[in-house]
Amino acid sequence: MKHLLAVADLTRDEGDHLLGLTDAFAEVGRRRVPKVPALQGRTVSWLFYEDSTRTRLSFEQAAKRLSADTLNFSVSSSSVSKGESLRDTVQTIEAMGVDAIVVRHKSSGVPAQVARWVDAAVVNAGDGWHEHPTQALLDCYTIRAHLGDLEGMRIAIVGDIAHSRVARSDVWAFSLLGAEVTLVAPPTLLPPNLDGWPVRVSHDLDAVLGDLDVVYLLRMQRERMTEALVPSLREYTARYGLTARRVDTMGDKSLVMHPGPMNRGVEIAADVAELPRSAVIDQVRNG
Ligand code: NCD
Repeated sequence: MKHLLAVADLTRDEGDHLLGLTDAFAEVGRRRVPKVPALQGRTVSWLFYEDSTRTRLSFEQAAKRLSADTLNFSVSSSSVSKGESLRDTVQTIEAMGVDAIVVRHKSSGVPAQVARWVDAAVVNAGDGWHEHPTQALLDCYTIRAHLGDLEGMRIAIVGDIAHSRVARSDVWAFSLLGAEVTLVAPPTLLPPNLDGWPVRVSHDLDAVLGDLDVVYLLRMQRERMTEALVPSLREYTARYGLTARRVDTMGDKSLVMHPGPMNRGVEIAADVAELPRSAVIDQVRNG
C-alpha cells in the first residue's frame, strides 16, 4: 500500500496491520525521548487547502517522532493566493524532493488526483465530503484501546452525516472491523441515497442510546451547507444533543467520541465532553 486515500480501499488485513503498527508507535510516544529513526532521510510536506488544528498538528508531530524532515507550507501565504494551479503547486513541491505529501482539500477526489501526478506517497487528510481515513483509523484504535475488539460492537454516528467525510470513513472502518453501525440524524442531515452503506438508520437518539457501546457525535458542518437543514439549532439540540441526562441512559462502559472541533452546547453538552467516558482527548492523542 503506497498511498492512503480512502478506508473503502482497505482490506481487513491492511486495517489490522495499521492498528498493530499504531500499538508500537503509541509505545514510542510514551518514551522520555519519543523519537525513532523510521523515516530518517525522508521528507514529508503538507498541502492543506482547508483549515485544521488537530489533523495538521498530529501529522507534524508524527513526522517528527519518526525523524522525517518536514517541509512546511501554508496555502494561504503561498503562490496559491497568486493564482497558481493545484498541479503546478504539487509539481513544485515534488521538485523539492519530497517522499510523502499530506493533502487536505475542500473538493472530493483531490488527494487521488495528486497521487496520479506525483511519485511521492499521498495521504488523504480529508477531501470534501468524501473521506478522512486517518481520522477513522485513530477512531478504531481509540475504541479498541478502551473496549477491545470491534467485532459485534454497536456504534451510532449522530448528527450531520450528509456533509461529513469523517462519517463516511468511520462507517467503512467500523464495519470493516466487524462493528454494527447505526446512523442517527433527522432525514435532512442524512445522505439522500444510502444504497450500499453497511448501516441501519434511526431518527430517534433516545431509542438507541441504551444499546450502544459507542456514541460518535458530529458537528453541524455549516460551511458545507447551502440551505437551512434543521428548523433551529435549539430544536436540533433538544432532539439530538448529547446531554448529561441522555448519558445517564447509556451503558456503564459505553464511550462518547467526537472528531473535533466540538460545538459545545449544540451536539454535545459542555459537561459531557469532560466525563470520564468521553474519549475525545484520547482520540487526539492517538492521532
Ligand atoms: C473534521 C474534519 O475536518 O473533517 N475534523 C478533524 O479532522 N478532526 C471534522 C469537522 O470538521 O467537523
